[in-house]
Amino acid sequence: MCGIVGYIGNKQVVPILLDGLQKLEYRGYDSAGIAVLLDGKIERRRIEGKIAGLKEKMAKEPINGFMGIGHTRWATHGRPTEENAHPHIDCKNEIVLVHNGIIENYFTLRQELIELGHKFVSDTDTEVLAHLIEENNKSGNFLEAVVKSLKEAEGSYALAIVLDKTPDKLYAARLGSPLVIGIGEGEYYIASDVLAILNYTKKVIFLEDGEIAEVSKEGFHIYTIADLSRVNKKAQLITWDPITAEKSGYRHFMLKEIYEQPRVIEENIKGRLSKDKEEVYLDFPDLPDKELEGIKKVLIIACGTSYHAGLVGKFILEKILRISVEVDIGSEFRYRDPIIDKNTLLIAISQSGETADTIAAVKEAQKSNAKIISICNVLDSSITRLSHGVIYTHAGPEVGVASTKAFTAQLTALYLLALYLGKLRKSISKIELIELIDELLKLPKKVEAILENDKDIIKCSKTYFKYKNFLYLGRGINYPIALEGALKLKEISYLHAEGYPAGEMKHGPIALIDENMPIVAIVPHGQVYDKMVSNLREVQARQGVIVAVGYKNDEIVKEMSDYFFTIPETIDFLTPILTIIPLQLLAYHVALKLGVDIDQPRNLAKSVTVE
Ligand code: M6R
Repeated sequence: MCGIVGYIGNKQVVPILLDGLQKLEYRGYDSAGIAVLLDGKIERRRIEGKIAGLKEKMAKEPINGFMGIGHTRWATHGRPTEENAHPHIDCKNEIVLVHNGIIENYFTLRQELIELGHKFVSDTDTEVLAHLIEENNKSGNFLEAVVKSLKEAEGSYALAIVLDKTPDKLYAARLGSPLVIGIGEGEYYIASDVLAILNYTKKVIFLEDGEIAEVSKEGFHIYTIADLSRVNKKAQLITWDPITAEKSGYRHFMLKEIYEQPRVIEENIKGRLSKDKEEVYLDFPDLPDKELEGIKKVLIIACGTSYHAGLVGKFILEKILRISVEVDIGSEFRYRDPIIDKNTLLIAISQSGETADTIAAVKEAQKSNAKIISICNVLDSSITRLSHGVIYTHAGPEVGVASTKAFTAQLTALYLLALYLGKLRKSISKIELIELIDELLKLPKKVEAILENDKDIIKCSKTYFKYKNFLYLGRGINYPIALEGALKLKEISYLHAEGYPAGEMKHGPIALIDENMPIVAIVPHGQVYDKMVSNLREVQARQGVIVAVGYKNDEIVKEMSDYFFTIPETIDFLTPILTIIPLQLLAYHVALKLGVDIDQPRNLAKSVTVE
């Protein structure tokens, strides 16, 4: 987590840094700071809290300058105080740096540096790097000093570094945390994420792990950290529109992103299906058809919301491919000695492509020669680079910390992948394929219809925002939607919500049910409809409050429910893309009533780049 940004050029640097940090705030918002180099002197401003506070401070204590670095922090080592805020400096205020990642051996390094006479003023792991570079810079070659220090440091980093004696240079290095260089006219940008620099340039270079860049107004050189050999890289053009990273009149990014879903689903389908609905076009250049035909098992790895998409994926892929699918949480997978081999297809799902636990799991799977396909939203992110094939979800930047459009885009990608593999492996007939594609194509309009019909959801949120505990129930392919609906509510409203398979209720959770515990039930028609209705009768018998999501014409569930949110009909198999929409809106409107920070909920960050 944490966001870093840097600039060198002819423009005043502070507004560029503040703008970039604002765009990166979703990565962490515990503290923020910037450092500017002017006339050979480093000036810093730091605050505890959000970028808004830093802006106020900069207005009161302005700094001029044309090169500098900035940081927005998600605290790992040390409390979110001003002292622990980045940028961090060395003893002589000559070296200043910002860091995203964790220096795992910081404690040992810190002790060694203290013995050498270095004075530490923060509790962070990052400060160690400033002093270590200072210690190693005695030879006078700064690039070599940085590289030597990085070799001594263990852990992960994206770094931007400034030395007062080289006012014409900015240094950037990457290992395990993303970093991009933006190319302008006589000016260059450094950032954790393209979003930070999209207003200024769309031409970028992604640094790879183990690379360091020396950037000046005239250009840049990239070297390997291992032996300082030169690396040549091609610039890429980013297609994201800066406007999609703005709120566009919506009160919150989350709401805007919920309403973008019809377009996102459509864009994911568009261009990937043939007109006659008989072909799905996906391109895995490093995975020949023969290898995909030989797959014996599928393993899905992800975290959080992406994990919930993976759980739906299990139903989708098992149904179409008739092979066994396991789903694992990234942080669990690597410690359970999993059984995988070259005939395993590993599907890594991640909006950011930078989630540390998912990356670690993918690396683990690589050792067993599994075939890796990732479903990611961010171009050229770490997970995409570890994969033999990628399905990009084309959701555009997702800024709200609570994932919404990325989820439905991931589900769409999973349907497409299942149909593609099903056709390849002949586990789906032509008629079935056409039928499913036909229904898939109708989804954007159906999602639109749900979004237009939010009155009951708003009314319901006004009733239930005062309740403290919620139980979300679903079965079959909609059980993961119960988990996802509950996650949405808890992460943005801080209310306790549990997702549960409805059939399991009688094995324990039923004890919780009373008039103070709303049950949010997902009950579209399909294979498990009757079973769900029976489960709801059990709730009714215990005076439980029922909020249900189901088909419009379902008089039975409507009559049983205190609130009933309707979705248009589709086939059972596709319902999760529709049932999640009212639950996203419910979580949003409850949080709105509670007056909490919806886009940046406490303790969270958008991209969890630490294990
Ligand atoms: O970028 P990723 O999809 O890998 O992120 C995974 C989770 O951190 C993420 O889904 C998280 O759970 C969201 N806050 C959920 O809304």
